[in-house]
Amino acid sequence: MKNIFLVLLVVSTVLLSCNQNNVSITEPTNEELIRIIPQGNEISANLLKSLKVELKSAISEGGFEKAIEVCNLKAMPITEKIKNVSNSNIQIKRTTLKYRNPENAPDEIEKVALDHFQNLLDKNENLPDHFVQKVTKQDIVKFYYFKPLKIENVCLGCHGNPENMDAKLLNQISQLYPEDKATGYEDGDFRGLISVIIPE
Ligand code: HEC
Repeated sequence: MKNIFLVLLVVSTVLLSCNQNNVSITEPTNEELIRIIPQGNEISANLLKSLKVELKSAISEGGFEKAIEVCNLKAMPITEKIKNVSNSNIQIKRTTLKYRNPENAPDEIEKVALDHFQNLLDKNENLPDHFVQKVTKQDIVKFYYFKPLKIENVCLGCHGNPENMDAKLLNQISQLYPEDKATGYEDGDFRGLISVIIPE
């Protein structure tokens, strides 16, 4: 008898937690957009600027091999620093379907946004400067601000066609990231998103 209660308890807990995982994605209101967009713009611009400054100075100091260290060791801490300066409740990351570091893999909401951007590209439409979604999960509301990232010439040394990349650099990348998916891009390709998650 005791066992049956236990089973019932486990089953109902599982059912409850499934229910609580209900996530809804809706369009933000105009008032919400007016509040969220400037925050997202500022935080994503700060991140892009810091990463580019570090990348450029590392490339000029020691070429791509040195710059790999910056991306490998500093991309996450730089992202973390920007997050702390802005507001510790805000989450910020770079994400894409073809990731180099599995820690940058998209969550379920980010996957939907990546698909949204890919659909626009498939229809030959221009990408918007940003895209905001209102996400309600277990009654908690968060705004996801997305900024699309494109591949530029300077990115190709580390994300381009492997045949045109330096063999030593490729080797370094595969040592650090055995499951790297982030090569094969061309100039102008959609690379992924900066994702800024802002609590209500
Ligand atoms: C010197 C080599 C190098 C260059 C140049 C470079 N990257 Fe990367 N990129 C990396 C490495 C290494 C990582 C993995 C960083 C980590 O561990 O978080 C990475 C990660 C990323 C990510 C996060 C998603 C993922 O794949 O893990 C994005 C987005 C990205 N790069 C975009 C760019 C763009 C856009 C440019 C050009 C403006 C660029 N990168 C230039 C080496 C480089």
